[in-house]
Amino acid sequence: MDKKQSDHHDLKKDHDGTNRHDEMVSDISEILFSEDRLQKKITELGGAISKDYYGKNPLMIGVLRGVLFFMADLLRAVTIPLEVDFLAVSSYSPESRNQGLVRMEKDLEIPMQGRHVVFIEDVIDTGLTLNYILGNLRTRQPVSLEVCVLFNKPAKRLIDIPLKYKGFDLPDQFVVGYGLDFREKYRNLPFVGLLKPQILHVNGIK
Ligand code: IMP
Ligand code: MG
Repeated sequence: MDKKQSDHHDLKKDHDGTNRHDEMVSDISEILFSEDRLQKKITELGGAISKDYYGKNPLMIGVLRGVLFFMADLLRAVTIPLEVDFLAVSSYSPESRNQGLVRMEKDLEIPMQGRHVVFIEDVIDTGLTLNYILGNLRTRQPVSLEVCVLFNKPAKRLIDIPLKYKGFDLPDQFVVGYGLDFREKYRNLPFVGLLKPQILHVNGIK
């Protein structure tokens, strides 16, 4: 291939999406969920929510920032009218996080009272954070409050939380991509994968 041809070839690869995110992809050891597989599941979840909440104008709530990617795709797969709102929380310290204590950094703007609410989360691990947030939301008297989670990690669950809509079960491994970060990086990968051990070990998880 001469130079001109090879340049053209590289451009085409980028355009096709087969060669994107190179700098981040080189840190990934294995892709667990391809973009295609994620989107197929999200279409299914969106279909189920559209059917269950028909005529109910549900309020869809997410916690910033990781859920942004999942929520944007999920809500476009929901075909009924809905409203969207966000919370932001932060841990006081690693110890308080272990007790499920979080500080509300940004509250909801739309009142929940009398509404059908779907709480959307990217990943549930111990369940402590989610349990705290759901406890807080229940005091606001929604008519119903259900959870839709893309990834469930059952291995370390400390609190049993009913998950009405669930994407995939994950093994007890640290994953990145599609909203999930390692030190704020990798959220914008369109797939979900494992980081190479040397990346995790040099920096230490969480
Ligand atoms: P937990 O359910 O209270 O233990 O906390 C879940 C939170 O931990 C999620 O909202 C993520 O921010 C983070 N988390 C758990 N597992 C992973 C993972 O595999 N990759 C990236 N973040 C994770
Ligand atoms: Mg995180």
